Amino acid sequence: MYFYSHKGYKIITGLDYQKALKLVNEVLQESYQIQHEYKNNKNCLVSKIKTGDFENIVLKIPRSRNSRIWERFLTLFRESDAFRIFGSLETVNNLGLNAPKPLLAAQKRSCGFVTDSFFLYDFIDGDTAGKDNINKVLEALQKLHSHGYIRSDPQLSNFLIKDNTVYFIDMRLKKPFVFKKIKFLMNLAKFVQAHNETGALLNAKITNSFIYKLSYFIQKIKTKKRNYRIKIKSILKGN
Ligand SMILES: Nc1ncnc2c1ncn2[C@@H]1O[C@H](COP(=O)(O)OP(=O)(O)OP(=O)(O)O)[C@@H](O)[C@H]1O
Ligand SMILES: [Mg+2]
Repeated sequence: MYFYSHKGYKIITGLDYQKALKLVNEVLQESYQIQHEYKNNKNCLVSKIKTGDFENIVLKIPRSRNSRIWERFLTLFRESDAFRIFGSLETVNNLGLNAPKPLLAAQKRSCGFVTDSFFLYDFIDGDTAGKDNINKVLEALQKLHSHGYIRSDPQLSNFLIKDNTVYFIDMRLKKPFVFKKIKFLMNLAKFVQAHNETGALLNAKITNSFIYKLSYFIQKIKTKKRNYRIKIKSILKGN
């Protein structure tokens, strides 16, 4: 991987300098063709695009993370969402699991805070995982845990299926160093809580264990707390 600087952006990519700069300019000038728009709202942009040198790539701009005050503050101590997802896609691939190949990520800092970021990665010509794929997704998620990682937002819509293979998308990976077992099980429980039918597919040895029940409970409280926070915020905003 290489790091470049251009127009105030720090860039990470496997591309050579000229190609990387051309791609960044195309994104900044919006001089690309949109082939499909998956999401385009105040929170985020996810589009399949075609540029001079690349087709079948996806551009993601995490708009709300780029602009939220708290998220900006945290970037004093860590990289942008774009850089972190870029790294996570790479790690998943390096572990021998599947994720779209990351192409380039760029972030701009002002007074130490990230104020803009985006990233580009391969398009996967498959389908979003559905109920029929729960078993396969569960298997992939547990494989990730066996490599020592948990992923953010484990739910079916954040996995793609192509040729019967599971691809991880939309994630930041974390490698827990303490309370590992609980953290892996909480990640599993989060997936189960998003898709209730999954519980029945898990090995009874896991679901009957005290540590799983405890992890499930802690995760439930965490999710409830988060949902209340979102509700309160939206009430305060008058939505
Ligand atoms: N590399 C890709 N190949 C094919 N489709 C993709 C790819 N990346 C994203 N998509 C499609 O776009 C949808 C939205 O993408 P993603 O999950 O990254 O965004 P999001 O959930 O809206 O974002 P966030 O949770 O960060 O606000 C996915 O469910 C999938 O259908
Ligand atoms: Mg998603």
